[in-house]
Amino acid sequence: MKQLIYFPLWFFKTRILGKKIPLQSVIFITDKCNLRCRHCCIYSTKNMITKKYKQIKKELEYCYNQGSRFVDFEGGEPTLWRDGEKNINDLFNLARETGFFTTTVTTNGQNPFSNLKADSIWVSVDGFEEFHDEVRGKHTFERLVRNINSAKHPHLSINMVVNSLNYKSVEQTIEFAKNNPNIEMISINFHTPYKNTEYLFLDWDKRVEVIDKVISLKRKGYPIMNSISGLKRMKYMDFKKYCWISNFIHISGQKTVDCGGSLLGLCNKCGFSMSGEMHSLMNINPDTIFAGLKLRLNK
Ligand SMILES: C[S@@+](CC[C@H](N)C(=O)[O-])C[C@H]1O[C@@H](n2cnc3c(N)ncnc32)[C@H](O)[C@@H]1O
Repeated sequence: MKQLIYFPLWFFKTRILGKKIPLQSVIFITDKCNLRCRHCCIYSTKNMITKKYKQIKKELEYCYNQGSRFVDFEGGEPTLWRDGEKNINDLFNLARETGFFTTTVTTNGQNPFSNLKADSIWVSVDGFEEFHDEVRGKHTFERLVRNINSAKHPHLSINMVVNSLNYKSVEQTIEFAKNNPNIEMISINFHTPYKNTEYLFLDWDKRVEVIDKVISLKRKGYPIMNSISGLKRMKYMDFKKYCWISNFIHISGQKTVDCGGSLLGLCNKCGFSMSGEMHSLMNINPDTIFAGLKLRLNK
């Protein structure tokens, strides 16, 4: 109910009054990770940081006071987060006590995650079988499938980042999502070329082909989170960005209204589907509004 009131109010203040109020927050809680993925630029950081519970509490309060009502805990591998006796479930509880409507976590799925108390869980699946392993390491696909199959979470979805190594596996991965009864939906993103990962950037022509394929599968009823309007936007990245809809608190504690890619000037090569979705939302595309409400309201 609170959400039903909050959404139109937020939309009025931002779209009509022109205020920049974040709706969702991304809080990085640890750099620690149990994988060394090709596309990632975090694990190679020299000084690994894990934030303290007290610091995350302050950061949650800050985001809430900014207007944000949805929070995503990010890493490194966020499920590895600990502070003494506390683990990540204490952070989900803390976020709810602070007033957030829902909590989300993105995991590489290498450890069992059926105990996670987030409202939604996103498992990164970068292709089917060997395509995923090529990006994330041997046997990582096998392990995450085992963990997905034993998880009993009502809102478990997968997130694929399409790159020059795995783009041929997009359709198979979407099929995998459709055929696995434990998976609610799949989100499609593209590789953003951070330093030393430029070779994974997918050519624009191939990106357009992949997007057209994803749109045709979506039209056939495949459980794809992206809206068609949002996907079309991601073809050229030549649109006005509304990425302040998410705010970020980085592992250093730095608070920004821009993501790491934007701070590095990568917006025109961005692959995060949310940038297209946010543009379409602000342009009042009904299918994007519907996709957004579906993502947020059924939790
Ligand atoms: C940084 S990871 C951290 C969470 C967790 N360890 C995992 O692997 O899912 C969060 C998400 O960002 C994606 N990601 C990492 N590097 C990326 C890049 N260069 N471009 C686009 N997405 C990227 C990952 O695939 C993952 O879905």
